[in-house]
Amino acid sequence: MIDSLSLIAALDAENGIGKNNDLMWNLPSDMRFFKDTTKGHVVIMGRKNYDSIPEKYRPLAGRTNVVLSRKKDFEAPDCLVFDSFESCLSQLELAPEQKAFIIGGAEIYKLALESGLVKEMFLTHIDKTYGADTFFPNYNGQHFQKTCLFEQAIDEKHEATFRVYRYELS
Ligand SMILES: NC(=O)c1ccc[n+]([C@@H]2O[C@H](COP(=O)([O-])OP(=O)(O)OC[C@H]3O[C@@H](n4cnc5c(N)ncnc54)[C@H](OP(=O)(O)O)[C@@H]3O)[C@@H](O)[C@H]2O)c1
Repeated sequence: MIDSLSLIAALDAENGIGKNNDLMWNLPSDMRFFKDTTKGHVVIMGRKNYDSIPEKYRPLAGRTNVVLSRKKDFEAPDCLVFDSFESCLSQLELAPEQKAFIIGGAEIYKLALESGLVKEMFLTHIDKTYGADTFFPNYNGQHFQKTCLFEQAIDEKHEATFRVYRYELS
């Protein structure tokens, strides 16, 4: 059973997270941070997020991949599939030191934040607007303490500045 969740997301300057069921940027140091932070853990994603990951990268390597879909016949090779958030939380077992990371998209972030189980979030705040059609839900009602983990400057691989924060429920 899972009674505590971590969450990781990257947001543009309007809290946008995606467009046309895809990411809107290519920021390698943030991608590396995502990989390093979630490695060895359980990652929980919505079916649309799963669909958006190129086939050659699915399931995300070195992590237990969990996909939520209400479609009874939905299959995702080498992933665990659950048809409700509640059954996912009640049936999943974590190994010692393992965390359950909510990795999006917007519907799944919302479910997680509304559950009250999110104890920490890793949010990348990008200083650019990308014209998103999908947005990170409002989390202002919950009291997180925020620590900046690192900042990225513009360089040949990064078209925008961003800061990565860890938010801890206080
Ligand atoms: N910037 C970031 O950090 C980040 C991270 C992840 C994703 N994204 C972006 O977010 C977008 C996708 O987000 P989204 O909100 O459209 O979709 P999503 O949250 O990835 O997936 C939604 C789907 O999840 C399933 N679902 C939702 N609630 C459920 C429940 N209670 N029980 C079982 N299944 C449930 C349904 O699948 P069925 O329709 O199959 O029933 C639903 O259609 C894409 O643009 C993606 O690139 C961005």
